[in-house]
Amino acid sequence: MTSDPPEPPPHLTFYHSIEFAAGRRTAGWPVIVPIVEMIIGAMRRLNFNGKRVLDIGCRDGALAFEAERLGAAEVIGIDSDLPAENIAFLRRALNSKARFERHNLYGLKTESFGLFDIILLPGVLYHLRYPFWGLRLVRDLLADGGLLLVETATFADANTLPLLLCPTGADSPYEPTSCTFFNIKGFTDTVRSFGFAVVDQRSMMNLPPHDPAVAAPLPIDRTVFTCIRDRHLDDAKVMAYWDGQAAGLPQWTELPQ
Ligand SMILES: C[S@@+](CC[C@H](N)C(=O)[O-])C[C@H]1O[C@@H](n2cnc3c(N)ncnc32)[C@H](O)[C@@H]1O
Repeated sequence: MTSDPPEPPPHLTFYHSIEFAAGRRTAGWPVIVPIVEMIIGAMRRLNFNGKRVLDIGCRDGALAFEAERLGAAEVIGIDSDLPAENIAFLRRALNSKARFERHNLYGLKTESFGLFDIILLPGVLYHLRYPFWGLRLVRDLLADGGLLLVETATFADANTLPLLLCPTGADSPYEPTSCTFFNIKGFTDTVRSFGFAVVDQRSMMNLPPHDPAVAAPLPIDRTVFTCIRDRHLDDAKVMAYWDGQAAGLPQWTELPQ
C-alpha cells in the first residue's frame, strides 16, 4: 500500500517536527518542540498577510512554512547548513512556494534579496560569536516599521545591568557553539541601540534570577522578542562611530567627571 505523500526517505534526519500530511509528522528533536511552539505562538500574534518574510537559520523550515500558512506573500529561508534534501521533501509534501537557500547570515546584504517586512531570527543569536554585527546586518535588511522576531537563550538575572554572558568551550551552559547569552535588559538595550523597540517579550520558564552566590548551573531561559524597526530611534552619529565612520564627525573628548 502506498501513502500520498510518501514517508521521508529513511536516511533523512529532521530537526523540526513538521506535519507534512494529516496526522503525519517528521521525527524532529522532541526537546525543541515546546520552543518552536512558543515561536509559532509569537508569530500568530503578528499579521503576516501579504508580507515579505526572511527566516534566518531556517533549518528544516518549520517557521518559514508557518509564515507561508499565515498568509505571507513571499518567504525566503536561509541557513549556513541548509538540509537541502529535508527541505525538498517538505516543500513537495506541503506544496510550498517558500524559497530556501544556503547562505551565511554574515554575508547577507540588501542586494541579496531586497528589504523584508518581517525577519525571523529564532534559535540563532545564542550561536553567534559576533552577535552585535549579526544584529547590525539584520537591521539593514528590514523595511522601516518592519518586525524582527528573535527567539534566543537568555541568561535569567535581575536585569539591573545590560549583560551579555559569553562563555566558551566547556563553560557554555549548552555546548561549545552556544556562546552568546544576553540577559533581557542586555538584549533590549542592544536592539534599541540598533533602532528597534521591543514591543512583545515572553520567556518560556520565567526562571528565578541568577544568584551570584550559586556558581552553577546558570539559569538559562528561552525568550521570544518581537521588535519593531523605528528609524526615529537611530542615533546616526553614534552608529557611524561604531561602524568606524567617525572621520569628519565631532569627536567625543569629554571624560566622565
Ligand atoms: C538551533 S537551530 C534553529 C533552527 C530554527 N531557526 C528554529 O528556531 O527552530 C540554528 C540554525 O542556525 C543555523 N546557523 C547558525 N549560524 C548561522 C549563520 N551564521 N548563518 C546562517 N545560519 C546559521 C544553523 O545551521 C542551524 O540550522
